Amino acid sequence: MKIVVIGGSGLIGSKLVSKLGEQGHDAVSASLDTGVNTLTGEGLDEALEGAAVVVDVSNSPSWEDAAVMEFFKTSTGNLLAAEAAAGVAHHVALSVVGTERLTESGYFRAKLAQERLIAGASIPYSIVRATQFYEFMNRIAADAADGNTVRLPPALIQPMAADDVASALGRVSVGAPLNGMVEIAGPEQVHLDELIRGALTTRNDPREVVTDPEARYFGINPSERALLPGADARLAETRFSDWLEQQVATA
Ligand SMILES: NC(=O)c1ccc[n+]([C@@H]2O[C@H](COP(=O)([O-])OP(=O)(O)OC[C@H]3O[C@@H](n4cnc5c(N)ncnc54)[C@H](OP(=O)(O)O)[C@@H]3O)[C@@H](O)[C@H]2O)c1
Repeated sequence: MKIVVIGGSGLIGSKLVSKLGEQGHDAVSASLDTGVNTLTGEGLDEALEGAAVVVDVSNSPSWEDAAVMEFFKTSTGNLLAAEAAAGVAHHVALSVVGTERLTESGYFRAKLAQERLIAGASIPYSIVRATQFYEFMNRIAADAADGNTVRLPPALIQPMAADDVASALGRVSVGAPLNGMVEIAGPEQVHLDELIRGALTTRNDPREVVTDPEARYFGINPSERALLPGADARLAETRFSDWLEQQVATA
């Protein structure tokens, strides 16, 4: 089966292309570096020729409100139109758990717009909402840092390894379209501030995490459970402590 991965050079995309290839699928990576630009439509028709499934794991280079909205609306519109012309039978997209509760942020307003375009189009689809990737913890710390202080709210999160995200996404991609949404998450719920504090300590990072109920998470002040998936979420196995240990050992 030909499966085109839009954003196939990215963190999740590159893992997904490898996994689908190992399963014997014709997994094709499509992104700027392979001459496919979803914003302009350049290279899309050629890339989608003969494709049964398209998985969109692209991301906006800019998270500024207007830029990210423009990215997800225009890219998704171009993609869905090209898929309709190519006769693609399944559109799969990666989104974020809790998106509709986080729209104080322009990034999540854009992800919600992306989801709505997909649900309103004619192509059978599956939306996979994942929790925060373990690989994303550095960016969370960087965004919340002011010098050597990292100020974070004690919201609960249930993060997961990018490798597990790619595996779950792969299973959905080769299955029947859900014409709906499924949530995926990691095995454990933890408080965001405690998680980042532990990760920084393990890495001998001198920054100090201060718990602050008023602190922002990417411009949002999430309620305690806003970032958590629902009871039906499919749970992955890799624990943060095991993942972190392996990262430190590899480094
Ligand atoms: N971070 C998290 O914790 C988290 C949690 C849940 C869901 N997600 C979602 O996961 C998705 C993937 O995230 P990621 O971290 O894997 O992304 P990433 O590593 O930043 O990769 C982004 C990909 O998008 C491609 N791209 C950017 N602009 C493009 C364009 N105009 N045309 C074609 N391709 C373009 C890039 O291609 P080039 O390399 O060629 O530039 C790259 O392959 C995102 O949609 C995000 O919302 C993230």
